[in-house]
Amino acid sequence: MTKSTVKYACETCSYVSVKWLGCCPECNEWDSFLESVNRSDKKKFGTTQQAATLTHLSSVSLESQPRIVSGITEWDRVLGGGIMQNSLLVLTGDPGIGKSTLLLQVCNAIARKHAVSYFSTEESLQQVKQRAMRLSCDAEHFTFSDNPDLGAILATAEASKPAVIVIDSIQSCFVPGSNSLPGSVGQLREAIFHLMRFAKEKGISIILSSHITKEGIIAGPKTLEHMVDGVFYLQGEDQWQTRILRAVKNRFGTINEIGFFEMGAQGLQEMANINAYLLDDVSHESGAALISVMEGSRPLLLEIQALTIQSKLTMPQRVVSGIDHKQVILIAAILEKYLHIKLSTHDIFCKVSGGFKIKGSVSDLGIALALLSSYFQQPLP
Ligand code: TYD
Ligand code: MG
Repeated sequence: MTKSTVKYACETCSYVSVKWLGCCPECNEWDSFLESVNRSDKKKFGTTQQAATLTHLSSVSLESQPRIVSGITEWDRVLGGGIMQNSLLVLTGDPGIGKSTLLLQVCNAIARKHAVSYFSTEESLQQVKQRAMRLSCDAEHFTFSDNPDLGAILATAEASKPAVIVIDSIQSCFVPGSNSLPGSVGQLREAIFHLMRFAKEKGISIILSSHITKEGIIAGPKTLEHMVDGVFYLQGEDQWQTRILRAVKNRFGTINEIGFFEMGAQGLQEMANINAYLLDDVSHESGAALISVMEGSRPLLLEIQALTIQSKLTMPQRVVSGIDHKQVILIAAILEKYLHIKLSTHDIFCKVSGGFKIKGSVSDLGIALALLSSYFQQPLP
């Protein structure tokens, strides 16, 4: 007979207690205890398990696996040339940013050549149909389900053997027989564990969508990131409809690549010529310097925008966004020392156009020229 006892486990470090605790004695995390059911029929871990098969690496075939290419260039490039077979990928981003839209469009594109199933655990089939119609999807090409039960989803996939399945979203999945509460980090961890094994054993690629939590990290303490093959963020600029797809982790490609989309009435449209769009935003005023920055395999034309103004404060302000704060201070100091201009008595404001972030020293010359251009009120040619 199955006997079950209720216990409480810390979400962060898995410390187990018979009582609920406000602060974990192991990792000192606050409010991290969740109810967990401990079943006594669980198999004990030990040497009684079936032995694993040992192989020499020389006998492992290295035939390159063809990728599943969607034809949506921005998506394929960020993934490192398409979806790798047997991989488990996560698409994450704020609610409403366009994850479901992008996944439906990708499914639609892949379905021309491969079998695809779309499991919507959040929205009903009617809602999915409405979106599919809006996106002009050829919905006869692929199959849908709104069953949120992970066991049922995997059984369906095993029976129908599609090349790709999409689960939108993993947080709304129900994991049967789980010890943790629905939506908890513990349950998510269990679900990912099952999905990873399923993808490798059955040769099916799985794409999950996942929300960003309040803290801005996917599903609590980065639970998903280290357990999957790839994590991709869909981000948006508030004032525009631009969406940026960025690889945070990719076992099968580089993580520098970014893809640009524009959200419109018919879903996400690729922005192949992003520089034409970025140049529209260029000001030609004093204090602006255009620089070229490599993002993955393509150059982006970005503008460094600086403003220097005689300060009324004893400690002049330095307000910087998109570039390293210390770098701007250093360049201002170099200009002051070698060109004998009084930047130390000026407030300095410096940012990158379009809300982009630039790392490293590629922007140094641009920062120097933008500061000088603003100081002397001379637009750069
Ligand atoms: P959605 O894909 O549902 O976001 P997520 O899955 O990340 O929560 O996108 C929802 C938003 O996108 C919603 O505000 C409406 C907008 N949208 C468009 O502007 N055009 C479209 O064609 C579609 C389908 C959605
Ligand atoms: Mg969604």
